[in-house]
Amino acid sequence: MPKAAGPRTPLWPELATHAARLSTVATRELFARDPGRFERFSRQGAGILMDFSRQHLDEMVLGKLLELTEAVGLKDYRDAMWRGEKINATEGRAVLHVALRQPPGANIGGAEIARVVMAEREHMLAFAESVRAGRIAGSSGKPFARVVNIGIGGSDLGPAMAVKALRPYTLDAPQCDFVSNIDGCHLEDILETADPRATLFIVSSKTFTTLETLTNAHTARAWLKAKLGEEAVREHFAAVSVNHRAMDEFGVHPQYRFKMWDWVGGRYSLWSSIGVSLAIAIGKDQFLGMLAGGHDMDEHFRTAPWADNLPALMGLLGVWNINFEALPTLAVLPYDDRLKRFPAYLQQLEMESNGKSVTLEGRRVDWQTAAVIWGEPGNNAQHSFFQLLHQGTPRAALDFLLPAKSSCGNQPQQDLGIASCLAQAEAFMNGQSAETVRADLAQLQVPKERIEELIPHKVHPGSRPSTLVAFQKLDPATLGRLIALYEHKVFTQGVVWGVNSFDQWGVELGKRLTDQLAPAVRDPDGGHAVAPGVGKIIAQLTEWKKGN
Ligand code: F6P
Repeated sequence: MPKAAGPRTPLWPELATHAARLSTVATRELFARDPGRFERFSRQGAGILMDFSRQHLDEMVLGKLLELTEAVGLKDYRDAMWRGEKINATEGRAVLHVALRQPPGANIGGAEIARVVMAEREHMLAFAESVRAGRIAGSSGKPFARVVNIGIGGSDLGPAMAVKALRPYTLDAPQCDFVSNIDGCHLEDILETADPRATLFIVSSKTFTTLETLTNAHTARAWLKAKLGEEAVREHFAAVSVNHRAMDEFGVHPQYRFKMWDWVGGRYSLWSSIGVSLAIAIGKDQFLGMLAGGHDMDEHFRTAPWADNLPALMGLLGVWNINFEALPTLAVLPYDDRLKRFPAYLQQLEMESNGKSVTLEGRRVDWQTAAVIWGEPGNNAQHSFFQLLHQGTPRAALDFLLPAKSSCGNQPQQDLGIASCLAQAEAFMNGQSAETVRADLAQLQVPKERIEELIPHKVHPGSRPSTLVAFQKLDPATLGRLIALYEHKVFTQGVVWGVNSFDQWGVELGKRLTDQLAPAVRDPDGGHAVAPGVGKIIAQLTEWKKGN
């Protein structure tokens, strides 16, 4: 199956030639030349409208990018993923998050995988419903009013992002909080207001070995034991992991343990029992709605021709921006505050997946891979970093996420959000010329010399590329579609760059060093060997720890 990575195909230099050809053409000029640009450069699928007409490209570029899908064998890789082949070669694993959102009878991943997915889904959703209804309650019989998910990375970001995004669907449920950081304060802030009798902890960890999660889990366990006694632990802790022995050892109630499988990557695991906190928050029907939305996008990615295929196009546009337009970062800008954590979610999805610099065969790449992902809700961003994006020297590509309907029923304010978003997209694309500035200031009767002084400060160069990802409303199905859209975008890019999007060896080194350093930090006089520079820092920190 492996074909040449995109950069090793003859299409790459051809794309570079096109980039050079377009380098002196502003995007506004491309618009002026082509009144049908919106129709030509926008697509709808699975309830999402993707308008990429403000990207700095033309039909010839799009044609070449689409040829790239053939040259790299995108279809073969996609089909291999669906068949459950071990495309995560360095870990020898299949990659089957698409199996997690399949509807009954679909048999994605094969009959056995489909069977275990359905059985686990039932078990997890039944548990979630019972917690919501108070049938599963704390050791004193008090229903759970608070659910605290303890996890990090993929065992935190997905459910935390989704619970925030789907707030209107959570109002009759226990309050869900998420603890990830190791410093202890993250947990402390939650425990401060938690009633132990009404608190359920969910330890979410695929491996059940992650330092942050296990440390927080043990702190929570000690807190609970101090308040309610050791026997209560069983009733107040649930867990999700592939590591059944570790769940046993922790003392998790046998009925409150949920499975994961090695064919689900942490950052692709929201759809599995890792989503149990979300299922408690939004309930079974809405959780199934999110899975159905994800499956809609899967079907779109699996069946739509590449020229109409939203995730593939999004991936190709990213390749164009990163590799040919010298735009190494992507700002994700949601125009619904409830998508606040979506950029953080995408950071792991995109950067942990494609932040690689060797190909699947282990050869060093000499091309850029993943974009640096960042972002904030759009209007907040407008009043902080948009200045740099409009007029600064660093340039970034932008994704605007734009709902038509307010998710809180305040349509007049959402309409202002829509106007802001469209205005920004236009401003980034068109910019503002010296002539416009001159005419505007002249109308305000600003003296001529002052006008000339101000012009350089007021000019906006424009041609900042953006994609509008528009949809009707932020609901469970739409959230599912959006997440799957980006997942398959990442997949497309991984195939083009020839990297394995499903391992994450780069996080291991730091984990190992932390384990080695922890004894020296805890016991600085214990004679633990550390690098000289590190020893000096530890000495100063130790000194400061003695003070108030
Ligand atoms: O450190 C990165 C990572 O391995 C992620 O890939 C994963 O989502 C996260 O840690 C948490 O891992 P676990 O679910 O095993 O605790």
